[in-house]
Parts: sequence; C-alpha cells; structure tokens
Amino acid sequence: MRNKRLLVTGGAGFIGSCFVMEAVERNMEVLNLDKLTYSGNLLNLSSLATNPLHKFVRGDIGDAELTAKLLEDFQPEAVLNFAAESHVDRYIVNPDSFVHTNVLGTCSLLQTTLLWWKKLPEDRAKDFRFLHVSTDEVFGALKANDPPFTEETPYAPNSPYSASKAASDHFVRAYHETYGLPTLITNCSNNYGPRQFPEKLIPLVILRAISGEEIPVYGSGENIRDWLQVEDHCSAILNVLEKGRIGQTYAIGGRAERANLQVVQAICSLIDELHPDKNGPTGRLIRLVKDRSGHDFRYAVNCSKIEQELGWKQRWTFEQGLRKTVIWYLDNQDWLQAVQSGEYRNWLYLNYAQR
Ligand code: NAD
Ligand code: TYD
Repeated sequence: MRNKRLLVTGGAGFIGSCFVMEAVERNMEVLNLDKLTYSGNLLNLSSLATNPLHKFVRGDIGDAELTAKLLEDFQPEAVLNFAAESHVDRYIVNPDSFVHTNVLGTCSLLQTTLLWWKKLPEDRAKDFRFLHVSTDEVFGALKANDPPFTEETPYAPNSPYSASKAASDHFVRAYHETYGLPTLITNCSNNYGPRQFPEKLIPLVILRAISGEEIPVYGSGENIRDWLQVEDHCSAILNVLEKGRIGQTYAIGGRAERANLQVVQAICSLIDELHPDKNGPTGRLIRLVKDRSGHDFRYAVNCSKIEQELGWKQRWTFEQGLRKTVIWYLDNQDWLQAVQSGEYRNWLYLNYAQR
C-alpha cells in the first residue's frame, strides 16, 4: 500500500506512535489526532518532527465538529482508532474519562465518519476502512487449562476498562451491520516495547529496577498475560488494513504466555546483566502486594486466523523483544525522566500507597 492517507487517532501514545512511524516509513500520509492526555506524548514522535508525511492535531475524538472538518479537509482512505483510556487500574481514579473516550468518543467518531463516508463516490466509499484497535481483555479471563481466546469467544469483560472497550467494539460492529460502514476490528493481547508509559507492568518494573525502588507484584504473581512486541502488533494492524475482510474481527497475540512473576524476574536478570546495581541483584526489590480487585487470571490468544488468512507472522520472540525493550529504556532515560511528571507521581501515590 503506497501513499494512502490515514487519519490516526491516539497516535501520540505507545502503540499509536509506533504505528504512525511504521506507516510513514511505508510512505503513507498520516493525520494524527490526539488529545495528549497523560499518556500521549509528542516526544514519541520527535523522529517525524520535520517529515511532511506526518501532521499532528491536538483534539478529542469526541469533538464531532473537529473530526468532521478533519475528514473533509484530509479525505483519508482509512480511519484507525487507537485513542483510548488504556490502563485498567486508572478507572478507579477517573472512571468518567473511560466512558467519555472509549465509548462516547468512539461512537462520535463512527457517526462523523459515517456521515462523511456516505457522501463519497462509490469507488472511494468501497475502498474506505474504519479500523478499530481493541484488546483481548473484552473476552474476560481464562482458567489455567482453557483454550486461548479466538474471534469466536463470547465477550465477557470483567473490568470497567474492558467493558468500555467491549462497548466500543459492539458499536463498530453495529455501524457495519446497520449502515454498511466498512469496518475492521483487532483484539490484541498485552503489548510491550519502547515508549510505553511506566504505569504498565513492564516499563514500571524496568524503571523501578534501574532506580533501586521496590517492585510491586499484585497478588501471588501467578496471573498470566500473553505478550506481543509493539512493532509486531503494528505490522498485524497494517496487514488487517491492507487485506482484512470487511466486517471481520482479527485476534492478535504473541504466543508468549508468561506469569507476571516470571516476567518481573526476567527483567531483573536483564538489568543485573546490562546495568548492575552496586547494592546487589535487583530481584531483592520484588514485593508481593495487595491484589488488583477483579484481577483477570489469564489472557491468551489463538492468532491462527490472522496467520492463515492474512499471512501475518510475529518477528520477535518474547525473550528477544524484552531484551531490546530493556536496552531501549536504559538508552532513553531522558524520555523516562520527561514522562515522570507531577501527575505520574500523584498516580503512584494513589495506586500504590495503600497496597
Ligand atoms: P496509550 O494510553 O499509550 O495511548 C492512548 C493515546 O490516546 C494517548 O496518546 C492519549 O493522549 C490518546 N487519547 C486519549 N483520549 C483521547 C481522546 N478523547 N481523543 C483523542 N486522543 C485521546 O495506550 P496504548 O497502549 O497505546 O493503546 C492504544 C490502543 O490499543 C487502545 O485503544 C488500547 O485499548 C489498545 N490496546 C492496547 C494494548 C496494550 O497492551 N497497551 C493491547 C491491546 C489493545
Ligand atoms: P498491566 O501492564 O497493567 O496490563 P493489563 O492489566 O492490561 O494486563 O498489567 C499486566 C499484569 O501485571 C496484570 O496481571 C497486573 C500486573 N501488575 C502487577 O503485578 N504490578 C503492577 O504494578 C502493575 C502495573 C501490573
């Protein structure tokens, strides 16, 4: 796909910025709409600062007047919706923002896109895509011996975050079924990699191990996640955009199920090797702390459909990707410093002080 025009929302966040860089690398033109909440950061896009293929607009996906104007002016061939409140623990502190962005924001974006799309000439309307980026968490939690999630797994969200993402997925599906909008949905497992905000497990642990602070592991540390390197997720999204069948859902995963404690210990070993602490091995910093309420036990994704139908393959094993990620954070401590604002310190206090 060359010279496509993409309207990307949430493109200053962790996954969105990786996607924008990859799309521009492939010579696509990107209009990036992002509200720049605490997790959105223009530093993530500094490599594109003078690149004419990337334009940035600060704004809210729920601002219908703005999105209607952007669609009219930019005339994209696709809209990719990454914008979201993305952290499970944050809902407890700010529930409204999850409903505002993940549900109402997505609905507003769907509606303005539909009104604009209906006026397109037939050939352009046929080729247009609305791709909604979602999560495997909408399927609920697996027990130890359950088979991994597939596209057929019934929705059973347990957290307010996954409930809000599930609601948005249902609206995307409904806009296809009711109005014929050419939609695609991806449901991906846990991502990791460069530029992830250090509220999520992997960057939080790297940061704590580098700075010699306690490393909080919720509950017994036995909960399992299926990890995928962020560039592999972005290549999967590009595959779905280029070749995915309209109205379909694609489950994406890393075939890398790991218990949290295993992940934390692997990070500590990498830090001990690459950036040893003069006070001794960083495993001494690990603390089991009070569990997250409603903590889903296990996520795992069977990604056979995207592999077989679209030929997608992940590039990084978990061990290769984790090493590369730790090295990125060690080499980019200025980025880590820059994102640790007063808001971040306030968050750490709210989430961890009582555990
Ligand atoms: P992130 O929090 O790093 O980025 C979210 C971005 O959305 C930020 O740049 C933020 O400023 C922007 N944003 C928030 N509200 C907005 C609004 N109302 N209008 C415009 N922009 C807004 O999150 P992420 O990890 O990059 O996740 C991106 C998407 O991928 C989300 O939809 C998330 O549900 C999904 N997802 C994430 C993971 C994961 O492991 N991180 C896995 C599967 C799916
Ligand atoms: P997280 O990165 O928040 O992603 P998600 O909740 O979307 O899976 O958490 C990954 C796992 O790590 C999850 O089981 C919760 C756990 N966790 C901890 O044990 N300690 C922490 O400080 C955090 C942030 C997460």
